[in-house]
Amino acid sequence: MNSLISATGLWTPKDSISNDELVAAFNTWSDKFNTEHADEIAAGTIEAKPVSNADFILKASGIKSRFVISKDPILNPDIMAPRIPERSNDQVSILAEIAVKAAKDALAKAGREGKDIDAIIVACSNLQRAYPAIAIEVQKELGAGGFAFDMNVACSSATFGIETARGLIASGQAKSVLVCNPEICSGHLNFRDRDSHFIFGDVATAILVEREDIAPEGAWEILGSKLITQFSNNIRNNFGFLNRGAAEGTSDDDTLFKQNGRSVFKEVVPMVAALITEQLEKCNVPTADIKRMWLHQANLSMNTLISKKVMGKDVDMAMAPVVLDTYANTSSAGSIIAFNKNSDDFVSGDTGLICSFGAGYSAGVVIVRKK
Ligand SMILES: CC(C)(COP(=O)(O)OP(=O)(O)OC[C@H]1O[C@@H](n2cnc3c(N)ncnc32)[C@H](O)[C@@H]1OP(=O)(O)O)[C@@H](O)C(=O)NCCC(=O)NCCS
Repeated sequence: MNSLISATGLWTPKDSISNDELVAAFNTWSDKFNTEHADEIAAGTIEAKPVSNADFILKASGIKSRFVISKDPILNPDIMAPRIPERSNDQVSILAEIAVKAAKDALAKAGREGKDIDAIIVACSNLQRAYPAIAIEVQKELGAGGFAFDMNVACSSATFGIETARGLIASGQAKSVLVCNPEICSGHLNFRDRDSHFIFGDVATAILVEREDIAPEGAWEILGSKLITQFSNNIRNNFGFLNRGAAEGTSDDDTLFKQNGRSVFKEVVPMVAALITEQLEKCNVPTADIKRMWLHQANLSMNTLISKKVMGKDVDMAMAPVVLDTYANTSSAGSIIAFNKNSDDFVSGDTGLICSFGAGYSAGVVIVRKK
């Protein structure tokens, strides 16, 4: 049985940090560090901290600001991390809470209630805990039936989640599957690393995937999809259960987000362009029929290059919408925010594609047509 995307949902934190605010906090911290360690720096035993620059950030990435769940502590040079108080085990976890907010938005758009859902997948990069699954908590909060589980394919989690949902529907396990992408990326971002402190933001998205016979009017037919992975250490986070077993201790450098951005750029652009092109051919969809590409939101130049390679010409923002200017990289949620905010003008028969890519490496493309 075929599956359709019935609706998507979005929850955005109320606070946002501009590049200027972020850079001011970073530079206050680096100045203070350099003053406090002036003697060691002069003696050459430690390196001076560099300054960050808002113009560099905009030029290198296209990012102007990012939404965050805990603004003030991130901008406090003595903290430079979110502060999210522990909750007792009988309170809903923050990750489940924001997933539910995005989920309710998607359910309302499709005219559904929690009880209509019979499978939930929380598919994201930044899972708050090992178990019980955040998805099972979301299931309880929504009053949904069936079953739920978490999965993590880093920034590609949304497309891998859609494809997993389709598989569950095809095998008869479920008929109405909610895929949630809650991303509190600020939790794993090293705000004291100049190379990456500007990259991520917080958000939650949700995608309702349903069996063809129950999907609402105006749902999105899935013409085809393809997932790929290829191992790379160029984007890595070594945080995990074995950190406490390392007698030598672990550092922020190793247990927070780390990437070799330039290599990622060079290696992922051709991989993703080829993936999209091959899948369009396989689905017999000429590029001329593609009205829009909702791409992962990591870097503006990366998206410009990928869309140019796929379409064989320069494309504008109407063709490849940009949300990373205000949301920054929101990991698995990026392509779904782009879709959520830029698909209302599609009419029956219009075709587009959702594509996500990131750590692993991993990439997924889903070609959709408005019913
Ligand atoms: C991260 C990224 C924006 C960096 O842009 P870049 O053009 O590759 O920049 P580089 O890291 O090579 O840095 C260029 C120079 O600017 C400096 N620089 C880095 N961050 C800086 C900052 N915040 N302010 C000022 N200068 C900075 C670097 O130290 C380097 O200096 P050098 O030339 O003296 O060595 C870019 O590589 C990128 O987005 N890559 C794709 C990443 C991606 O998609 N990741 C997926 C994550 S899920």
